[in-house]
Amino acid sequence: VTKGNGVKGLAETGLVSLPKQYVQPLEEMMDMGKVVTEESIPVIDMWKWDDPKVADSICDAAEKWGFFQIINHDVPLEVLENVKEATHRFFGLRAEEKRKYSKENSSTNNVRFGTSFSPQAERSLEWKDYLSLFYVSEDEASALWPPQCKDQVLDYMKRSEPVIKQLLEALTKRLNVKEIDETKSSLLMGSKRINLNYYPICPNPELTVGVGRHSDVSTLTVLLQDDIGGLYVRGIGGDSWVHVPPITGSLVINVGDALQIMSNGRYKSIEHRVIANGSKNRISVPIFVNPRPNDTIGPLPEVLESGETPVYKQILYSDYVKHFFKKAHDGKKTVDFAK
Ligand code: SIN
Ligand code: FE2
Repeated sequence: VTKGNGVKGLAETGLVSLPKQYVQPLEEMMDMGKVVTEESIPVIDMWKWDDPKVADSICDAAEKWGFFQIINHDVPLEVLENVKEATHRFFGLRAEEKRKYSKENSSTNNVRFGTSFSPQAERSLEWKDYLSLFYVSEDEASALWPPQCKDQVLDYMKRSEPVIKQLLEALTKRLNVKEIDETKSSLLMGSKRINLNYYPICPNPELTVGVGRHSDVSTLTVLLQDDIGGLYVRGIGGDSWVHVPPITGSLVINVGDALQIMSNGRYKSIEHRVIANGSKNRISVPIFVNPRPNDTIGPLPEVLESGETPVYKQILYSDYVKHFFKKAHDGKKTVDFAK
């Protein structure tokens, strides 16, 4: 009944209880007792982004939290609203339309409609559908991305580029990088993937997850979320969970494993997860800013100059990513692969 229409199709069959493939083991269900409300991730105003104080707050947040939100970042609200609308438009398509982009049917690996995370490897499935778009060029995107969302997604990617550069400039300056030349630019932001995520209303939200505990394999992730909420990140110390409250017009930024590795552990790629929701459909749109697949990543020479011992080895980025996708979500374990 539901093949090719994802979890959304399943939810819309009028399901009253969660199918058992989606029931998570007890230890993976969200323990609300571990959620703290006294602390929250920093919100950084980018209005005066060339003020050294702003750069300092960005670097401090990346060291301490690995997660922060930015406001007044120059990506117009309208652009953000258009991507959200386009996301709803895509997932609202009939199954036959979405299925064109499934693993079996898609004409390219760069465009993929799917469900859960890595269904072959998971003991329990995640309550989420996605469209994943690997950006190669504007021409390729125009030709291959779904017409219902491609213009809005491309516009969002283009408009977010300046702020991505500002963030990476601030972050690498603290790592003693004098200039983002071509080699550095490739390592820091040589490729991009954008996902449209859809988390349908779930009959037994407490028994499953939207996305299990993981850290991102990116350099940086820029996340647009709607006003529903449900993203939790590890609090300082690593035992508690902290909610990332939706703020209209903000973007959530997090450090990924690649930047943790390049900074030799100074910037933290933090574990996070998304809960399922019993009454509302939620969407989110992360842009994963990545090294190029055939870049070799490791602690940057500028970081090691002062005599620091490298915590991570040099590793081909595509091997790192392959390792991540081979297994179910498992917290921060992927980063050990680079040790
Ligand atoms: C993710 O981290 O995979 C998704 C985050 C979100 O949907 O808020
Ligand atoms: Fe993530």
